[in-house]
This record gives sequence, C-alpha cells and structure tokens, in this order.
Amino acid sequence: MRTCLKLPKCQELPFPDAKTSEDTRFPEALVETFLHEYTQIGDVTLDPFAGYGTTLRVAEAMGRIPYGVEANRERAEKARCIINHKYNMIMGDSRDIRTLGLPPIDFCIGSPPVMKQTQITNVLREHLRAKGGYLQYLADIKSIYQQIAELLQPHGMAVIEVGNLKLAHGVTPLAWDIALVVSEVMDFQGEIVVDWEPSYGNGYDHSYCLMFSKRA
Ligand SMILES: C[S@@+](CC[C@H](N)C(=O)[O-])C[C@H]1O[C@@H](n2cnc3c(N)ncnc32)[C@H](O)[C@@H]1O
Repeated sequence: MRTCLKLPKCQELPFPDAKTSEDTRFPEALVETFLHEYTQIGDVTLDPFAGYGTTLRVAEAMGRIPYGVEANRERAEKARCIINHKYNMIMGDSRDIRTLGLPPIDFCIGSPPVMKQTQITNVLREHLRAKGGYLQYLADIKSIYQQIAELLQPHGMAVIEVGNLKLAHGVTPLAWDIALVVSEVMDFQGEIVVDWEPSYGNGYDHSYCLMFSKRA
C-alpha cells in the first residue's frame, strides 16, 4: 500500500448549491484513484456520506455499481440528478445503515461530516436537530462502521477520507480520533496521506485516507 498521494483539489461539475459556498465535495480524482486500485468492473461500491453524489457518479462511469446514503434530502435529490442508478442513492441516516436494504459491498469510500471537539451539536444528527457532543459523534462513527463491516465482503476495504482541524481555538485531532474508534470494529491497515494542490482546508493542506479491512 502506498503511503502518500498528490492530487488536485478540484471538481469537474459546478457546485449545485446556491445556499452555501462551502463545497465539501470529493474531487473526482480521489475516487478514481481508489476505485482503480481497489475495485474491479461490476464491484458494488458504497459512500455512506454521499453528499452531492461524486462517488456514485465516478463509480458508475467506471462500471462499478454505486450505492450511497445521504441524510440531507436536497443533496440526495441533487445527487440523483447526476446518476443513472437513481434508486441506489438512498435518502437516509447512515446510523441505521444495516436497515436500509443495501447489498453486500466490495468497497466503501466516504468522508464524514467534520466536527470540532468543542461543538455541542452532533453533526451526524443535525437533520434531527438533536444535541450531543463530540463523544457521541465518535460513538456514532464507530457504530456506522461496525454496520458497514457487516455488509462488507471478506476481501472488501473501507476508506475514510478525513483531516484534522486546526482552527482559531485549537486543534481537533479528528482523523486520529476516527482512526481509533473505527479500529475497534475493523482492522486498520494504515493511512494514505493526501497532499492536496493548492490546499485542503480547516488549517491544513493534506488529509488522510484511513484504510480499513473487515476483521477476520
Ligand atoms: C463531507 S460531506 C460528503 C461530500 C461527498 N463526498 C461529495 O462528494 O459530495 C458529508 C455528508 O454527510 C452527510 N451526513 C451527515 N450526517 C449523516 C448521516 N447521519 N447519515 C448520512 N449522511 C450524513 C452530510 O449531509 C454531508 O452531505
């Protein structure tokens, strides 16, 4: 497994959301790189935080069978507009992923919504307007990947793309905290550092692709 990668931080499609300027979409190059290395034509791929559907669009174009879960209805609808497998884009909550009728999956790649240690709203439950802090967020991440491990084929891999956050009031070691909690339910194979050109965000110009395999 390589340990670092340099990629352009850019998207082919214009950002489809006039309400926010915060474009959190995956660059296509990230998805293409991992699908080339870890999947074959016909493989089932999942993005549990599908956003505007980048992973599904790229996977479909590469002959993979795309699935995605997205809690935000508007984003899920926008994602459906750019793919052919429209009903594989599930409007739902990844915390309930084992109940969403997904098939066994060969490969999973996704980028969870980011959260600072000091934040009081658990961003994974934002659509429910429920309170809950960082520890509840990490517990939710662990539960989501425990369920993904159940769906993953024995040869499958799960990639979590995430960075730490260096903001005005300090650093949240988000990537390391996620690596720690997900390691409790899957086998951590190491990280690939992605050096983004021109930069990444949240105080850094790199992020991590945390690589997990199903526990034997
Ligand atoms: C960093 S964005 C992912 C962007 C995506 N990679 C793309 O290319 O568009 C994280 C996404 O997770 C979604 N999300 C947050 N909580 C969720 C949950 N509990 N279940 C499913 N999706 C959730 C957010 O609405 C957001 O669109």
